[in-house]
Amino acid sequence: MIIDPTQAFRLDGRVAFVTGASSGIGATLARAFAQAGAAVALVARRRDRLDALADELRAAGARALPVTLDVTDSAALPAAFDAVSAGLGVPDILVNNAGVARTGLFLKTGAAERDANFATNFNAAWDLSAESARRMVAAGKPGCILNVASVLALNGAPGYAAYATSKAALTHLTRCLALEFVRHGIRVNALAPGWFVTEMNDGFLESPAGREYLDRIPPRRAGRLEELIGPALLLTSAAGSFVNGVTLAVDGGHHAALA
Ligand SMILES: NC(=O)c1ccc[n+]([C@@H]2O[C@H](COP(=O)([O-])OP(=O)(O)OC[C@H]3O[C@@H](n4cnc5c(N)ncnc54)[C@H](OP(=O)(O)O)[C@@H]3O)[C@@H](O)[C@H]2O)c1
Repeated sequence: MIIDPTQAFRLDGRVAFVTGASSGIGATLARAFAQAGAAVALVARRRDRLDALADELRAAGARALPVTLDVTDSAALPAAFDAVSAGLGVPDILVNNAGVARTGLFLKTGAAERDANFATNFNAAWDLSAESARRMVAAGKPGCILNVASVLALNGAPGYAAYATSKAALTHLTRCLALEFVRHGIRVNALAPGWFVTEMNDGFLESPAGREYLDRIPPRRAGRLEELIGPALLLTSAAGSFVNGVTLAVDGGHHAALA
């Protein structure tokens, strides 16, 4: 197979199911996938945001479908996939991006904070991967799962025990599923973003303490959201057809530092 490098990153004919598409990284990736030719299911709880993004993408000529879903509600997943399959086709790209960051020092973190991080960042990605992969296999469609982990999945930091371990579990799920699904032509990879300013952290990163922190980390700045697009397209398009089971840090080298 010879890949045309000008076409290798395109997603024409693909159907992407993007969770957490109502803001930040999810909205950025949904826009990029639509621009690359995919039909995009925009999945989250804030319907007004999803409707606005769907209107924007449709106005640009893309196929987009807003889907209201709490990803922690496992009983609701089949109906969400049914709606996307009816409206756009069986999804062959799943982006497990919806996430929460409930942080705090370990001795002050209760089981509720731990469970909240795991419910969205890990359990939901597990359930969505199962639902999605079953449908790809039944449809005889090869595909991709892209998990949005974190640089905190690769190294620890004080105050992040619950969040970081939920993301580390997600990277290990990535490896296990990559091995199980390869026989079905489904690749499973993860992104490990460093710091990107979104609604999840803008209160801190845009404060004097946050700006000082960014000055001290190896890239000396936060990432720009568009810097996630190339890595995400690599992992979901034909350009990355032999890339499977990896967690790709997109962090300006932050993970490479000792601390
Ligand atoms: N920003 C960073 O520096 C950074 C770094 C590393 C990793 N990440 C990861 O990147 C992902 C996206 O985060 P972000 O930075 O873009 O933050 P964000 O703007 O706060 O986006 C989080 C998204 O997750 C969705 N979400 C949360 N809980 C959900 C639920 N129960 N059901 C459905 N959707 C849910 C939210 O949508 P609704 O509220 O509308 O449901 C929202 O669209 C997360 O997994 C995060 O851990 C972020």
